[in-house]
Amino acid sequence: MDTNISIITYSGAQLEPYLDDVARLRIEVFRAFPYLYEGSMEHEQEYLKTYLSSPFAAIVIAQDGDKVVGASTCIPLVQEPDNVKKPFLEKGYNLNEIYYYGESVLLPDYRQKGIGVAFFEQRERKARSLSGFKWASFCGVERPADHPLKPTDYVPLNHFWRRRGFQQTEMVCYMSWKDINEAAESPKPLRFWMKELI
Ligand SMILES: CC(C)(COP(=O)(O)OP(=O)(O)OC[C@H]1O[C@@H](n2cnc3c(N)ncnc32)[C@H](O)[C@@H]1OP(=O)(O)O)[C@@H](O)C(=O)NCCC(=O)NCCS
Repeated sequence: MDTNISIITYSGAQLEPYLDDVARLRIEVFRAFPYLYEGSMEHEQEYLKTYLSSPFAAIVIAQDGDKVVGASTCIPLVQEPDNVKKPFLEKGYNLNEIYYYGESVLLPDYRQKGIGVAFFEQRERKARSLSGFKWASFCGVERPADHPLKPTDYVPLNHFWRRRGFQQTEMVCYMSWKDINEAAESPKPLRFWMKELI
């Protein structure tokens, strides 16, 4: 990997200097298919506050020199909102045993260089450094195969996630946001993937 690239995991107050950059990256990267998310700095800053206040949460930051080019978040599932916890409760999981990966966002010019793999490795290291987590889990949005905004060269991340040791589950949650081609927010289905940590 390029020697100018650093990939470091930060928690708590260490995160403060990076939050605006992470918010900007989320807005920029999630505008693209399949997320199509029309974000605002105000909403992002509110969302990211949770990461500042939890000593068990972390954000992995990728930098090219001084420039933040990617970020990847993780947090105990118990600190997520009810809509994210609900499918696990319904399946009888102990929520305290699940470490949740929020998202990975990386600028397109920096992809296919191993940074995404490092995001998964560093988040798993964080989960294993805390006691009691038996599972890692994240969710990804599901879009219809014939979605009008799907690029012809779009490659789903399913293969990448399987190679990181995750399996698709039957669990789905719903999150609402306004797509770039929508007039108002609507709920979107997101499917959970899981990996056993023991
Ligand atoms: C998800 C995302 C972070 C992946 O990042 P990435 O840096 O392109 O991924 P990597 O380069 O680490 O891995 C991609 C492949 O290249 C390989 N690779 C290429 N160069 C590599 C290197 N130098 N070192 C290690 N792996 C390398 C990886 O092994 C992997 O192949 P595999 O899955 O067959 O093992 C990036 O695609 C992204 O930001 N997407 C948009 C946002 C999104 O959809 N996020 C996910 C949901 S929140």
